[in-house]
Amino acid sequence: MCYAIPAKVVSIQDNFCILDYFGEERKALLDIENVEVGDYIYAQGGISVRKIPHQEAAAVLATWQDIFFELKKTDSLLSKVDQEKLPANALAVLQKINLRQQINKQEMLSLLTLNTANELKVLYELANNIRQREHGNASCVHGILEFSNYCGQSCWYCGIRQEREIKRYRLTPEQIIAAAQSAVDTYGFKALVLQSGEDYWYDINKLTAIVQSIRAMGVLVFLSIGMRSIDTYQKLFTAGARAALLRFETSNQKIFHRLKPGVDFTERLELIKNLKKIGYIVATGFMLGLPEESAEDLVNNIALTQYLDPDMYSFGPLIPTTNTPLANQKKTHKDDVLKAIAVARLANPKANILVTTALETLDHNTKQEALLAGANSLMINITPTEYRDLYEIYEGKNKNLEIGSSIKNTTNLLYTLGRAPTDIGLL
Ligand code: 5AD
Repeated sequence: MCYAIPAKVVSIQDNFCILDYFGEERKALLDIENVEVGDYIYAQGGISVRKIPHQEAAAVLATWQDIFFELKKTDSLLSKVDQEKLPANALAVLQKINLRQQINKQEMLSLLTLNTANELKVLYELANNIRQREHGNASCVHGILEFSNYCGQSCWYCGIRQEREIKRYRLTPEQIIAAAQSAVDTYGFKALVLQSGEDYWYDINKLTAIVQSIRAMGVLVFLSIGMRSIDTYQKLFTAGARAALLRFETSNQKIFHRLKPGVDFTERLELIKNLKKIGYIVATGFMLGLPEESAEDLVNNIALTQYLDPDMYSFGPLIPTTNTPLANQKKTHKDDVLKAIAVARLANPKANILVTTALETLDHNTKQEALLAGANSLMINITPTEYRDLYEIYEGKNKNLEIGSSIKNTTNLLYTLGRAPTDIGLL
């Protein structure tokens, strides 16, 4: 199984290279040594992660050759939009997007008011059409390894907040490295997200050792470890980490400070901005359905994500969880999440938009629906099964599926939709 198609280097300029995927050109940052024109490499999120021998590349490419063009055909067929059926506000937005103009907050709000089944269908189709126009059938699939559920924070929504009485676990650096190695060797992952609560047991020395070992496996190391100092993130970048996920959670400062006691909104935003300055591929976003949030807040959330200009948008619904202060909060409706994905796609045609696992818990079909409403990126849980139940940031998390079955389901889904793992962040 593989989540990346080998790319041929067609030219090199400064620290970037132009890559060819069956005639499609993409651009990636050169992050490996001794690459020359004509070499084959794997790239993830716009970064080259591994050089591969010509023979190995030829073998993998041969398996893709036939289906690649079939997949593209399927994707094009599924990405058509019937302009005749567009409601007036959606048509106006389409015209703006075609002129490469930015849609404004008022237009986003107006799209979020679309409600009938027919209107929603057209909105999702439009977003899917723009996704296809900007990304082709490229999609990214990252593995996520949840290595510790210890957390020093008290976020009102979160199932691993420090006050919640749950069984805690933390994997040793050796266990983390072994789990990563198995994901790379057995399952062929080329990008791994390392996620945990804010657990300072992992000091800079432990984190550096983990990052260096996993980077040496020839994969993109993606951190999701919460708020750490800029110095720590800088050192981990030097150690080889290249991507970081840190949501701002909500753009409404009042709600933020109530739900995240002891955390400063401005400091969090500054950190997200600094991650980008350090050179990380940045994923950020928010939660939908927090108490007292209005439609304007949602638009502001999308606008703030846009302002932070991340490589990847990550937002999902709040899943109310027992024994947390938000246990009784109303569940977010699936359509509200799909609408947010579609509007985010229209507001930012070039973004990578992730289907989050929280969305997947709303019902079994949402992954597919999200991919057809503008999303283009997925994650597969590779946490060892004995720990997976314990990483309960929210209830009902898709726990028990072992890695092999998740991969099979995901690959089948991507093939049905005509998507190929030519994941590249930069166009
Ligand atoms: N429901 C949905 N998402 C949650 N997160 C934390 N708790 C919940 C919940 N109950 C999200 C936060 C965090 C990410 C890792 O998980 O947005 O940034």
